[in-house]
Amino acid sequence: MRRFAQDIIRTPMSVEERASAAERVLSARERYVARGVATPALVVERAEGARVWDVDGREFLDFAGGIACQNLGHGPSAVVAAIHAQVDRYLHQCFMVGTYEPYIEVCRRLDDVWPGEAETKSILVNSGAEAIENAVKIARAATGRDAVVVFDRAFHGRTSLTMAMTAKLVYKQGFGPLATDVHRAAAPYPYRGVSTEDALESLELLFKQDVDPRSVACIVLEPVQGEGGFIPMPPEFVQALRRICDEHGIVYVDDEVQSGCGRTGTMWAIEQLGVEPDLLVSGKTIGGGLPLAAVTGRAELMDAPHVGGLGGTFGGNPVACAAALAVLDELTAPGFAGRAERLGSFLRTRLEEIAARHTLVGEVRGLGPMLALELREPTPDAAKATTAAAFEKGLLLLACGLYGNVIRLLPPLTASDEELERGLSLLEEALGDAGADGG
Ligand SMILES: Cc1ncc(COP(=O)(O)O)c(C=O)c1O
Repeated sequence: MRRFAQDIIRTPMSVEERASAAERVLSARERYVARGVATPALVVERAEGARVWDVDGREFLDFAGGIACQNLGHGPSAVVAAIHAQVDRYLHQCFMVGTYEPYIEVCRRLDDVWPGEAETKSILVNSGAEAIENAVKIARAATGRDAVVVFDRAFHGRTSLTMAMTAKLVYKQGFGPLATDVHRAAAPYPYRGVSTEDALESLELLFKQDVDPRSVACIVLEPVQGEGGFIPMPPEFVQALRRICDEHGIVYVDDEVQSGCGRTGTMWAIEQLGVEPDLLVSGKTIGGGLPLAAVTGRAELMDAPHVGGLGGTFGGNPVACAAALAVLDELTAPGFAGRAERLGSFLRTRLEEIAARHTLVGEVRGLGPMLALELREPTPDAAKATTAAAFEKGLLLLACGLYGNVIRLLPPLTASDEELERGLSLLEEALGDAGADGG
C-alpha cells in the first residue's frame, strides 16, 4: 500500500516520539520534496500575531515574517474574516472568464495609495516575480524598446527573466541561458565604499559602453534593496535616476515587493525618496498571506499592451483579493503609519546600542522599521551562527546580503513592545553565542 507523507507525519505517536515530531516531518520532507527548495529547521503547527508554534509545541517569536509577508502579523482577524466571507461566495472565477468586483476594488485601492499624482491602472498576478515580468512586458510594449537596466545586489525573482535581473549566482547557476538585454549598473552601498556618484558614473559608463539609453525600456530598482542586504537607496540617487528616465524616455519601475505595504513606515518606501515612479510592483504582504502581487502604473503605460497580452489563470484570485482589501484597510487605518514610525525609531535605537556592544557588527541600517545589522566580515559564517543560535533561543531570524552577512529584521509592525524587546534581547544573546561579540 502507498504511504503518504501525512501518514508518516500524522501516525499516532507515543510521548517519546512526540519530541521528534519536527524530525519526522523533516524526514518526510527530504523524501518527497525537491532539495532545491531550501529547508529551514522550523516545522510549523500554528501561528498568531508575532508568534509561531512548531509541531513539538515550541514557541518562537517571528522576526522573519515569511520574508516580509507578515507586516500585519500572522492571521490578522480582519483579513481572516474577509477570507472566510469570500470563500463562501466563490473561490475562483479566472478574471478573463468572469469579471468580479474584488479584483477591480483592489486596483481602485492601489490607485488610492499611489505615491504621486498620476491616474493609475493595475494588473493583479500571483507572485512578485510574475509581477516584475509583467512590468517589463508593459514597459517594453509602451516604449517599443527591449533593454532592461537593473543594479548590483538586486533581487527581482527566480523566473527565467527575473533570475537574469537578480544579482546573485545561487539563483541562476546551472539554470541555462539567461534572458538577454538585461544590463547591470552599480547601486550605492556606502558601507562598502560605493557612493551615489560611483553608482551614477557606472550607469553613465553602461550607457556609453554597452547599451544606448534610447533602447532602454525600463530601469528597475528596489528603493531599499531587500535580499541584497537591506540597503536603502539614497534619495539623491533615486532622484537622479528619475531625471535620467525622463531625459531618455525610460520607464521607471519601482520594485516594492519587499519594501512596500508599510514595511518602511510609509505605504511605499519611494514616498520617502521624493520620486513618483512610472510603474510600481507590489507583492508579499499585500495578499495577507495568500499569493497576490500587482503592477500599478500610469494608465497610458498600463494600457500599452494589446488586449489579451496580459493575464493568467489565477492572477487576482478572488479570495486573495478579499484578503488584500482587508490588508489595505489595516495599512491605511489612522495610527498605523505613526505606530510603524515609532517602531522604526525604537528598533534603530536598540540596534545601535547592540552594535556598540558587539564589535563584529559593522553597520545598522535601513529605512523606518525595515532594519538590519551588517556584520563586518563579508562571509556568511557569523550571520549563520547567529540565526542558528537565535532559533535555539526561540527567535526566527533571516540573513541576507550578497555575502550572506546581514541579519535583517522583519517583525510584524503590529508586534507589542514586549515582543520587540524580547526579540531584541534574544538577538543580542544570539550574537554573543555566535562569537559575534568581539569579546
Ligand atoms: C524586491 C523583490 N522583488 C521581487 C521578489 C520576488 O517575489 P516572489 O518571491 O513573490 O516571486 C522578491 C522576493 O523576495 C523581492 O524581495
